[in-house]
Amino acid sequence: MSQTIDLSVIDGVIKDWGAKPGSIIPILQGVQERYNYLPPEIFPYISKKIGVSEARIYGVATFYENFSLQPKGKYIIKVCDGTACHVRKSIPNLERFQKELGLSEKKITTGDLAFTVQTVACLGACSLAPALMVSTAGQPDKVHANVTPDQVSEIINALRTGK
Ligand code: FES
Repeated sequence: MSQTIDLSVIDGVIKDWGAKPGSIIPILQGVQERYNYLPPEIFPYISKKIGVSEARIYGVATFYENFSLQPKGKYIIKVCDGTACHVRKSIPNLERFQKELGLSEKKITTGDLAFTVQTVACLGACSLAPALMVSTAGQPDKVHANVTPDQVSEIINALRTGK
């Protein structure tokens, strides 16, 4: 399932940052904030608009780890597996997400583009270990503390039902 790209949104982002080569990074960030990833059709479009080759824009997108070229879910769940969280059993939480959502280390996004589950090295909230963060486009990130596998099921249900 893929999203339809609204080019007027891309135009808005370009307008915010200026149609110039120096704006490649903030423009890509703006697009990713909107779609959670960088859809392929934006590259020729931005290239034409700001007068920079598609290859160069693509090069920037692949250089920075924070840019994703794969579609991500509406909810991006970052399960912390840094040292503090790992020793306090973050992996059973990750496994519960994967089991309930039919995901794996290789398949991190559900087919309906509702959930992406990934691990991160440290959320900077070690005293709350094991911690995880839920990111939803346009909303503040939400950190969950001292999470157990059963709470993982509750988090999934709450997101599914919009609570
Ligand atoms: S190790 Fe998980 S928040 Fe720091």
